Amino acid sequence: MDLKITGGRIVTAEGTYKADIGINKGKITAIADKLPNEARTTISAKGKIVFPGAIDVHVHLQLPFCGTVSADDFENGTKAAACGGVTTVIDFAIQKKGETLKKTVAARRAEADGKVSVDYALHAVPTDWSEKTKGELFQLADSGYTTFKMFMIYAREGMISDDDALFAALEETAGFGGMVGVHAESVRVLDLLLDRYHNKQDMKKYGAYCHVLSRPNFIESEAIQRAVNWAEATGGKLYIVHMSTAEGADIISDAKKRGLNVYAETCPQYLLLDDSVFKKPNGHLYGTCPQVKKKADSDRLWEAMAAGDVSVVATDTCTFNKKQKAMWKGDFTKIPFGMPGVETLLPLMYSYGVGKKRITESQLVKLICTNPAKLMGMYPEKGNISIGADADLVVFDPHRKVTLSHKNLQTNCDWSPFEGFKLKGYPDTTISRGQVVAIQGVFVGDVGSGRFVKRHIGMNLK
Ligand code: URP
Ligand code: ZN
Ligand code: ZN
Repeated sequence: MDLKITGGRIVTAEGTYKADIGINKGKITAIADKLPNEARTTISAKGKIVFPGAIDVHVHLQLPFCGTVSADDFENGTKAAACGGVTTVIDFAIQKKGETLKKTVAARRAEADGKVSVDYALHAVPTDWSEKTKGELFQLADSGYTTFKMFMIYAREGMISDDDALFAALEETAGFGGMVGVHAESVRVLDLLLDRYHNKQDMKKYGAYCHVLSRPNFIESEAIQRAVNWAEATGGKLYIVHMSTAEGADIISDAKKRGLNVYAETCPQYLLLDDSVFKKPNGHLYGTCPQVKKKADSDRLWEAMAAGDVSVVATDTCTFNKKQKAMWKGDFTKIPFGMPGVETLLPLMYSYGVGKKRITESQLVKLICTNPAKLMGMYPEKGNISIGADADLVVFDPHRKVTLSHKNLQTNCDWSPFEGFKLKGYPDTTISRGQVVAIQGVFVGDVGSGRFVKRHIGMNLK
C-alpha cells in the first residue's frame, strides 16, 4: 500500500463514519475500520474529517479578458486549488471567430498540460455558432468535453451566443446527453443600462456602485427564465452558472418541480457578500459579472442550496490584482471583471455553511464534490470516497482557526474579497491521486503532475 489515512471521520454525500483508507497507485483500494496493511506513508487523521477532494467546476485561469489576463495562471491557480483542498478544476476553452472547437480545446490543452498540479478538465465555449460548430459538439463529447458553456452577454466583447445558438445547442446536446451551461444575463437591456450610467456625472456620483445600478435583478432573472424556456422546449440539459439572485432561485425551484433537467450553481461571493462592497473606497475590486446582490438574495440562495434546488457551489475564479483592477480609472465598464476564489471555496463553505448550520457536512460534500462530479461526468471516479475511486482526498481540521488574508494564500492576488473573514476549519492535507500536494495551505506537490480528465456524459441528479 502506498498511503494509509488512519483514524479519520469520513464524510460523504450519504453520511459519515470512522474508517481507515488505503491507497495504491493513485486509487482508493481499501476502506475498513482498522487497516492492518503496512503502508509506505501513513497520515493520521485522528480528530479530523476526511472529505473527497473538492471539484471547482468554474475557473478562468490565465484568461485574456477585459484588456488584461487573469493573474492566476494554470501553474499557480492549480497550486492554489491544492492548498484549498480542491483536487479538480474545470476551466473553459473559448472559441475564437473562425476557429473550430477542436482547435480551440487543443490550444487550451497546450496551455494547461504539464503546468497543472491537480487534475483539470475543460468546458468548450462556442462563440462562433454555425452548422459546423453544432456538428462538432458530439465529436467533442466523444473526446471528453461533455459540457458546453454559452454566454448570453458579452455582445460587445464578441463572445455572446444569441437565442438561436442557445436553442440549437440545447436541441443538439439533448440528443447525446451533453449539458449546456449558461452565463444568464439579459444582454440588450443590460447594454442599455450600461450606456445609461456610463456618463461623467453618474460615474462621479456613484463610482463602482454604477455596476449595481446597471444590473438590477431582472437582468439575471429574465435571462434565466428564457434559458429555462429553451431547455423545456428542446428537452436539453441546462446548467445556470454563477446564479446570484433570489428570483433566479425561484425560477430554478419551479423548473425542478415541473421535472425539467435544469441545474444551478452559485458561488461563495453571492452567499457571503452583499452589494454594499461597491460603496467601499476600493469597491471596484469586487467587480464581477454578475455582481454580488443583496442580503435577501444570499438568504434565498442558502435556502435553495439546503433544499437541493442549487446543486453546485463553484467559484468563478478569475483573479485580477489591484494593479489590474486599477485599469478601471473610475469607469465601471472598464473594471477587469472577476475575483480570486478557488483556494477559499472549501474553508469558507465549511465555516459559513456547516459552521453556521445552514447546510450539513453531507450537503457540503454534495455541493462541492459529488454533484459536480455527477453533473460534469466524472463520477464515480471523482467526488466520492469509495473503493476504485481516484484517491483525491482532503484531511480537514475542523478545529483550526484562521483569519483569512491574501498574505497567507497561494493565489497571485494581492487582495481577497474575504479578507478578515474568520474561519473555523481548514484543509490540513490535500491528496491528489494518492500524492500529497498541500499541507496546511502550503503547496508541496510536483508542478505538472495534474492530468486532463476525459469526461463521460454526466448523470442527472434526482
Ligand atoms: O466577472 C466574471 N465573472 N469574469 C469571468 C467571466 C465570466 O463571466 O464568468
Ligand atoms: Zn460568467
Ligand atoms: Zn466565469
